[in-house]
Amino acid sequence: MKAPRKIEIFETREALTTRAADLIVEKLDAALSEKPLASLVLSGGSTPKDLYTLLVLEKYKDKIPWEKLLIFFGDERCVPPDHPDSNYKMAHDALLSQVSIPSENIFRMKGELSPDIAAAEYETAIKSALGEHPKFDIVLLGMGADGHTASLFPGTTALAASEKLVAANYVEKLDSWRLTLTPPAINMSRNIFFLIAGNDKAKAVKEILENDADSPAQLIAPRSGSLFWLLDDDAASQLSSNEKGYRSR
Ligand code: 6PG
Repeated sequence: MKAPRKIEIFETREALTTRAADLIVEKLDAALSEKPLASLVLSGGSTPKDLYTLLVLEKYKDKIPWEKLLIFFGDERCVPPDHPDSNYKMAHDALLSQVSIPSENIFRMKGELSPDIAAAEYETAIKSALGEHPKFDIVLLGMGADGHTASLFPGTTALAASEKLVAANYVEKLDSWRLTLTPPAINMSRNIFFLIAGNDKAKAVKEILENDADSPAQLIAPRSGSLFWLLDDDAASQLSSNEKGYRSR
């Protein structure tokens, strides 16, 4: 039985990221009440980046025990960590460089390596940190207008990677290689937050939430964890009124 989606719609991007930040504080508190360290999986993208910018403000920076976090990445471009396209570089500049997380607790996908080697190495790193069947405490995800999430793009081989936690994924439409957590790796997580804002996402949001469309983001369905779809009004603009009955703020 898959856990139901919790859909929340917000008037502004700021309200969305504030809710996401509050949820992160709440879920990390819960995780750290049971164990010494909690795992947070970061995403690339401009919407997650807005959240990182919020998390380093006094209001949140002091609420999160950064030294007790293990930081992972949901996906990465196959570029060096100082490349402008690197998700690691974005997260480092916006968040990781401004909070006190021991470097050994930051697990970077090594985009500079050959994709298959980088994927295998990251899978080993995850298992060494979290065990053979890792359950991330929080996974942050964005979604593209084509319904991709992490680097799970439509029509790519990683969508069917059922035996692996991490896949090297060639994305033809981008003519580039990516590294990505696989759907099974994400779906073992305790809490998954989609952060989706903007009119350009509205069609995919409607297709996925209302028409059960076959889309990469549709594959994100945790077995027992919680799944939040945090949408701004623009991204939710094509949803029918009954979907909009979900909590909105
Ligand atoms: C990436 C991200 C990707 C991103 C979505 C949404 O590597 O680009 O992991 O999945 O989250 O494309 O990005 P925006 O929030 O910028 O629309």
